[in-house]
Parts: sequence; structure tokens; C-alpha cells
Amino acid sequence: MNPRLPSKLFYGGDYNPEQWPESVWLDDVRLMRETGVNIISLGIFSWSKLQPAEKRFDFGWLDRVMDLLGDHDISVCLATATASPPPWLSLRYPEVLPVTADGVVLQVGSRQQYSPSSRVYKKFASALVRRLAQRYRRHPALASWHINNEYACHLQECHGDDSTRAFRTWLRLRYKTLAALNQAWGTAFWSQGYGRWEEIFTPRRAPYHCNPTQCLDFKRFTNDAFLSLYRMEAAILRAATPHIPITTNFMGFFKPLDYRSWAREVDYIAWDSYPDPVDEVAARHAGAVGHDLMRSLKPDRPFVLMEQATSAVNWRPFNLPKRPGLMRLGSLQTVARGGDGVMFFQWRASQAGAEKFHSAFLQHIPPEQSRVFAEVKALGAELQQLTPVAGSLVRNRVAIAFDWHAWWAVELESKPGRIDYAAWAQRLHRWFYDRNIGVDFVHPGAALTGYDLILTPALYLLSAGDATNLTAFVARGGTLLATYFSGIVDENEHIVLGGYPALLRAALGLWVEEWAPYPDGQTNGVRFTRDRTKYTCDQWCDLLHLEGAEALATYTGDFFAGRPAITRHSHRKGTAYYLGTRLNAAGLDALLARVIKDANVQPLLSAPAGVEVTVRESVSERFLFLLNHTDGAARIPLGRWRGTNLLTRQPAARTITLAPLDVAVIRLDN
Ligand code: GAL
Repeated sequence: MNPRLPSKLFYGGDYNPEQWPESVWLDDVRLMRETGVNIISLGIFSWSKLQPAEKRFDFGWLDRVMDLLGDHDISVCLATATASPPPWLSLRYPEVLPVTADGVVLQVGSRQQYSPSSRVYKKFASALVRRLAQRYRRHPALASWHINNEYACHLQECHGDDSTRAFRTWLRLRYKTLAALNQAWGTAFWSQGYGRWEEIFTPRRAPYHCNPTQCLDFKRFTNDAFLSLYRMEAAILRAATPHIPITTNFMGFFKPLDYRSWAREVDYIAWDSYPDPVDEVAARHAGAVGHDLMRSLKPDRPFVLMEQATSAVNWRPFNLPKRPGLMRLGSLQTVARGGDGVMFFQWRASQAGAEKFHSAFLQHIPPEQSRVFAEVKALGAELQQLTPVAGSLVRNRVAIAFDWHAWWAVELESKPGRIDYAAWAQRLHRWFYDRNIGVDFVHPGAALTGYDLILTPALYLLSAGDATNLTAFVARGGTLLATYFSGIVDENEHIVLGGYPALLRAALGLWVEEWAPYPDGQTNGVRFTRDRTKYTCDQWCDLLHLEGAEALATYTGDFFAGRPAITRHSHRKGTAYYLGTRLNAAGLDALLARVIKDANVQPLLSAPAGVEVTVRESVSERFLFLLNHTDGAARIPLGRWRGTNLLTRQPAARTITLAPLDVAVIRLDN
């Protein structure tokens, strides 16, 4: 069993004491205590401070910070400092620098300027990690390891020599023979047949479309290259401190990394969330859907929100502050959706550097003059009251099948139309979110027991095994909603022949002959056969043939007017719906209301619009979270629920009235 964090709610953030004179450190730690901070991420960007030259190390300052934090009972999530190599490294060994698809070498002066396949980088990074592990393995403040930082955030691929060599090695392991590679890549097309491994390169800038399987494999390889860096560090740390949990910070819907492959390697999920407060409604959903995706990666352990902003960020063209109450609401949303940690970038706002306009616990003014500080201090106290929630989990009956390989494949060039894979999944999620029906994200090949309803938005790439898994889910009595452009290609990005989506035909009771992808602004309509209601649709229209399914709605326009657009099919004990187009909000509402009825899925509570409701549960307890995201008071009848509000310490009334942006967390009576 991998080590766990202790069961409590973590509160804190990134701490970069190396940017400040030692004279402020004691003040920092005193104020951390005052704020209720109990954990700090330390040393994330400290490599050049820890190793100012190739053969010179300086751990003295870090020893002093670690001791100071330990003496004040503040735990440390100690970073391995490998995210930003020091300038001396690339001066001496220029081959560590990453190269773009155009052959441009990315230089020092920012961060993350290393190739994930650089042998020199690996050598120096692992040597540093070894020293850190040896030095701090028995330090009482050490609570967790924080490997690197946001892998691939800025540097998402590399085409340098080390990368090219590593790509070939990766391909040899995957395909064994060139014949197998040529078959998988379909190189009979355009005279691309490879006769020697040396002829193969990463997909550099080329005259026209890149071989899609080569591009897809390069994305897989790049994921694995970054993951192997993580593994390299984790192995060193694991050997030195088998009892200390290890993680790295994920970034939610981040396309370059298949976080499902990473989730197996981390001891707990940590992620960074920065929704733009310019649109508060979109931001609260962005937070929720990110939490749901990240939680689903390791559903049996609470996650930690490793970074968010106390107020404004610095990296958008316009960086709005979070108005009073929003930071608290977003933080409690994290806990509501399964988080046991609420952390921020960063403790003390920088005075210099590219992030000096990024908010922090401590802004550029004395704390007693700071609105933000008053809010983070109040939040720290509230989180302590929520301690009983720690360790409890979120359980849902609806899931969206979401796969990074399908994401990579469907967004490669030369497709019939443009599909924004994550946006389509998020749009479906939003319908459930707005109705307080909890949703997980699962791999299509996962064990789907426990779920009543699975959705597959544009699950373009689907292996035969995963298609069988989805079909078996329906056969056992589950409800499936597949949408357009699902089940079109196999793992090699080859069309599965025999009428799309060939492997789901039996479950869906239909096949697709053609599709009409629409440019932005072009629309069609659908009319439901039962009540003749009409809705607009756009982006994509599948032209279907029924073979057992019934048409629930037909198109109203284009040359295929009158032909089925939305269908329902009984397959063994279950039901499979098919949505051949992208419906507007009202149309989606009409369809999904019917789908959840079939699946026997209901909202947790009937709450006014803008009130978010979730439940966390442990073996013996249940906690009901109510979050009022609106600017008006919200009245929420609790129905059958009874319990005590952990934030007010009062018994919950039968109808709860929440002030604007207020939250109730009710420990339910058994
Ligand atoms: C994150 C990063 C932090 C900081 C923050 C600013 O992506 O991990 O180091 O840059 O953004 O919002």
C-alpha cells in the first residue's frame, strides 16, 4: 500500500523564501500560524540556489527554513527543485535545451528549459534529488515530496537529438519490427515506408499533413518521456523515504499528459486550478469539472488542490481580482468535490520577476491592511472546523468516458471537421453540474460497476476491448449515451471498417453512413418525434441508418431533413442512446431529462439555480455541502436530510437560507 497523507485538511501554498532576506522568514512563519497554514510547498524553483555551480551545493539556507517550519509545526511538501535548471547547466551542456518542431532551440531566462529526453538533464536532476533525499529524509517537517512542477506546462514536446533517439527506442519497444511499425503507421500511403530505424524522426515541421499515427505515437512517447522523469525521481525518493507520500501537480484538462497513466504513480492527486474570474459562472463550472476529472483519477483517496490564486493571476492579458467571498467559495468547492487540501500559489507575493503581480496570502502591503489576508485568515479558521470531513469520498452513478488518447487522436489534423474534445465533454458535464448530479470521468475500459449511466462524447479512438466493455455495460442493464464521432478508429488511428461506429453497432442499433460537419455559425435543427418540439443543433450532423434503434428526433434541415438525429435502442437488459449532433442547451435538456429517467438517476437535492450540492461520505458518516454561487439569498429545503452545520455549529434547519456566496456543510445524522 502506498503511503498516504495524514487524514486532515491541508491549508497552505508555495513558499519561496529564497526570494527574500532571511530577516522576513520568522515573520512569514508567525503569520502562517496566524492564518492556520499547516503545509508549505518548498523549493520548487530553488535549483540554482541549491546548486549554484556544477560542483558547488548550498543546502544551509534550506536547512534553516526546514527547521524553522518544523519548529512551528508546519509540514513541508518538499519539492525536488528540478523544474527550472540553472543557467550554468545549459551553458556547459547546451544539449539539455529543448528544440521545437521548427528546429528553434529554447533558451534560458524563463523556466522549464530542458528536454524531457535529455540524458544530461536526467543525470543532474537525479543527482540533486539524491542529495535532497539523503539530507531531509529524517527531517520531522517532511510530510510529502513534490516532484518537479507542472510537467510539460510550457515545454510540451521536444524534437532535439536526444528526443529523436529516445523516440526511436520507444518505437522499437512498441513495435519490435519495422514491418509492424509500417503497418501501424499505414506508411503505404504517400510513400512513407521506412527501411531503417534511423529514417524515423519526431514529427518535425513538414510540407503538409503529418502521418497521423506518427503524430499520435509522438504524443504517447512525449507523455511517457515526462512520466519517466517523474518515475526516475520517485524511485530515488521511494528508496530513501518509503513512508513519505510522493506527488506532482497536475493541471486538470491538460492535453499533453495522459494523467490516467500518471495517477498510478503518484500517492495522491495534486492539481492546480486557475479559473478566470472574469466570468464567474464559467469559472465555478471550470473549477467543478476540473475537480471531478482529477478526483476520478484516484477515486479512493481525497485529492489536494496544490495551487490556486488568492485573488488575481499575472499571466492573462487582463487579470481580474477575485471579489470578496469568491476565494472562500472556490476553496470550499474544492472540499465539497473531494479535496482534502486547499493550497495557493503563493505565500508571499514576489517583489521581482515575472510573477510579481500575482496575488498571494501576503500581498505587497502589511497584512492588517489587506482584504485578501483577512479572507485567507478567515478561511484557515473555517477549514479547521471542517476537519471531520477529511478522508471522506465522493461517489457518483454517472460517468463520462474520457480518454487522453482519444483526445489526441480526434484533434489531429485532417479530420472531417473540428471537434474540441474537452469542451464537448465539459458541456455535457455542465448539464449534470447545473442539476447537482455528480459525474465522474472514467476510462472506457474501466470496470463500470457502480455506474448507471455512461456518456461517450466524441470518443473517436476506441479499442475493440473498450468497445466490448461499453457494450457489456449496456447488456448488463446500464444506460449509455454515445455521441457523434465515437468509436471511429482503433489504437493505431485506423478506421474500423463496416459502417461507423462498427464496434458499437450492436449496442446502438444503428450505423452511420456519412456526416456533415458544420463551420462555426452554421446550424440545423432537430424535431423530437414524440412531442414535435424543435431545437437548434450545430457543429456536426451524423447521417444514420437504423438497425433496431428507434428515432427520437429527426433533422429539420439540409439534404438529410427527416432522417434520424437522436436514437434510443434497447440492448439486452440496458439502453443505448445516440446523439448524432450537437444540440443547443434546451435540446440537450430535453434529451438528457429523458436519459436520466431511463437510468433512474436523480439530482441530490432540488436546489435553486446557482446552488451547488454535493455529498462526501466515509464508512460511517455523510456530509452535505451547499454552496450558493448567486448574488441573492438562496432557500434550500433539505427534504429528508437532518444534521449539524459544521461551519455555524448549529443544527441545520429544515430549510436552509444561504446568504450570497455563502456555504453550509452539514454533517448528516445517521
Ligand atoms: C502555476 C505554477 C506556479 C506559478 C503559478 C502562477 O502554473 O505552477 O509556479 O507560476 O502557475 O499562477
